[in-house]
Amino acid sequence: MGRECLSYSCSLAFAILRRSFYLAVLPLAGLYVLVPLLFQTVPEFMQHAFFLNFVKVPFLDYTNLTYHGVAHLGRNFRLPEIGARVLCKGEEPVLGVWHVLPASLSRRLEAEIEAGTRKPLTDADYEALLDAESHGVVVYFHGNSFDRTNAHRVDLYNRLADLDFHVLAIDYRGYGDSTGFPSEDGLIEDAHFIYNYARARAPTKNIYVWGHSMGTGVSARFVAELSDLGIPPVGTVLESPFNNLHDVVTHHPLSRPYRWLGERFNRLIVDRWVDSGLVMHSDERIVKHKAPLLILHAADDHIIPVKLGKKLFEAADKAGVDVKYVEFEANLGLRHKFIHKAPHLADILKEFFQRCEAFTTSRKPTKRHEEVHIDA
Ligand SMILES: *[C@@H]1O[C@H](CO)[C@@H](O)[C@H](O)[C@H]1NC(C)=O
Repeated sequence: MGRECLSYSCSLAFAILRRSFYLAVLPLAGLYVLVPLLFQTVPEFMQHAFFLNFVKVPFLDYTNLTYHGVAHLGRNFRLPEIGARVLCKGEEPVLGVWHVLPASLSRRLEAEIEAGTRKPLTDADYEALLDAESHGVVVYFHGNSFDRTNAHRVDLYNRLADLDFHVLAIDYRGYGDSTGFPSEDGLIEDAHFIYNYARARAPTKNIYVWGHSMGTGVSARFVAELSDLGIPPVGTVLESPFNNLHDVVTHHPLSRPYRWLGERFNRLIVDRWVDSGLVMHSDERIVKHKAPLLILHAADDHIIPVKLGKKLFEAADKAGVDVKYVEFEANLGLRHKFIHKAPHLADILKEFFQRCEAFTTSRKPTKRHEEVHIDA
């Protein structure tokens, strides 16, 4: 009896094991083969796998900035990309944008509105405010997946607004509530579009570019193009950047199962992307930058290893770009998305922004580079 029971439970255990094998392992193994196969055969899949723009929170309300944690007055608006050359199914994309006011301005206006001496701000008021006072403007380019409402991005807008900047945060085509679908050329066009929007409305103000993660790839190319055009921004901040597509893809946690493929991985995946127009070699583009550059990276970044940010810094430095590299020690726990929580960040940024202003005023580029390590 005991023995039968034992063999019964054994065969039951075996059946369960077998079932879970089919349920869990087979689909995984299937995916493992399917992903490279899709790369070879379906170009859209390939693009989406990099941009991850389909990773969204459904039914988001983009109009209420307060709901998403924005601490200052701001507005949501839609910007039709009139004259776009990279179209999406023959149509010009329409971008979703947030404009957050500098903290001191926001507080003053809020008090006036509350006291009844001023009406609530209209869209035209927000546009006029961009050039009304001395505040600079930061144009923010986010990383892949999700959109401008993401909590860690909102925390950064708040910090920049606290430093008394206007913040313009867009969703590239295909992200959030923006229409169309992404491509490298398309994202660069979106970047020019929002930058021109800012320049047209704040022609006398200092405009900065801030990119995070994938957004650093956008910023590196975009600022190189602006530099070629002779209209670089006043300064550029690259947060958690990478040096080039090859290195960022091979170091990404999602590509770990394929690492044993070695060089063949490049041919299967990375070369396919480059063929399709997704290049993102920031290390070759950064050498053209004609504005001061600040690179921020955390030593414990688990998505883009810090050594890739360091390589980007070295490429810029070697080319004589005015660049400063700040590395945050692992004990701060800032990883890939939380550099906005870093101690002393406000001081680091204030110093950088002052240097950018001095650089713009003098326009005498003196070679300088600097490395700083920030501990708790
Ligand atoms: C926006 O969100 C805030 C915070 O959740 C809420 O208090 C406020 O009523 C909302 N405003 C509108 C217009 O819905």
